[in-house]
Amino acid sequence: MPQIIHEQPEHVEQIEPLLDRCFGPDRFKKTAYKVRENTTPLPELSFVTVEGDKLLATIRYWPIMIGNSTSALLLGPIAVEPDLQGKGIGVGLMRETIKVAIELGHHLIVLVGDPEYYSQFGFQNAAVLGFEMPGPVEERRLLVKECAAGALGNVSGMISGVSDTLSLPGRIASKVETDEMIAGLAAFAPPSDA
Ligand SMILES: CC(C)(COP(=O)(O)OP(=O)(O)OC[C@H]1O[C@@H](n2cnc3c(N)ncnc32)[C@H](O)[C@@H]1OP(=O)(O)O)[C@@H](O)C(=O)NCCC(=O)NCCS
Repeated sequence: MPQIIHEQPEHVEQIEPLLDRCFGPDRFKKTAYKVRENTTPLPELSFVTVEGDKLLATIRYWPIMIGNSTSALLLGPIAVEPDLQGKGIGVGLMRETIKVAIELGHHLIVLVGDPEYYSQFGFQNAAVLGFEMPGPVEERRLLVKECAAGALGNVSGMISGVSDTLSLPGRIASKVETDEMIAGLAAFAPPSDA
């Protein structure tokens, strides 16, 4: 019976060959890989489907920013062992991991993939909303899912990976918070003898 579990270090040696089988060696040239450079997948949202010792599928989510002001997740890659595709493993992995992402409080999930498949999970076109990738991508395949009502708001802009060197204690303030802080600073009149 296949089981969805968190990815463990020992799964990596089966994940890379699976990704090669599913996407070919040119996969590293994709724009999504560029976004993920210098970024680490979130361990709490990296899952595999296994049956005994055999790895059947993988899915990972990465921290990104949209337009430098909104944090979100980039989903991908998701890959199912070619012999086992079309048996519901992909749908199961998508549904279960999206549930976890929502429970963890994430608001937006972006991915590059076929809308014919991903619309069933609530993904919609992101290019028409003004989302951009730092390289070539088919506009119809740039998708976003709102995990909390209203999360999309006026969000748009360039998608970038959150570099590991930025994963310092603390967090990046949102634009609204930054504006509030600046407004607060302006309220202090400089001392007259300054
Ligand atoms: C895409 C993928 C993850 C789906 O997982 P899966 O386990 O094969 O899919 P499921 O069994 O859950 O769903 C199968 C259904 O989705 C459909 N489907 C699968 N891939 C699709 C696609 N790219 N576009 C449209 N429909 C698709 C199948 O035709 C099938 O439809 P049916 O139920 O009406 O017959 C898997 O096929 C895969 O790993 N493909 C190769 C790698 C890949 O393309 N990954 C996605 C990159 S964004």
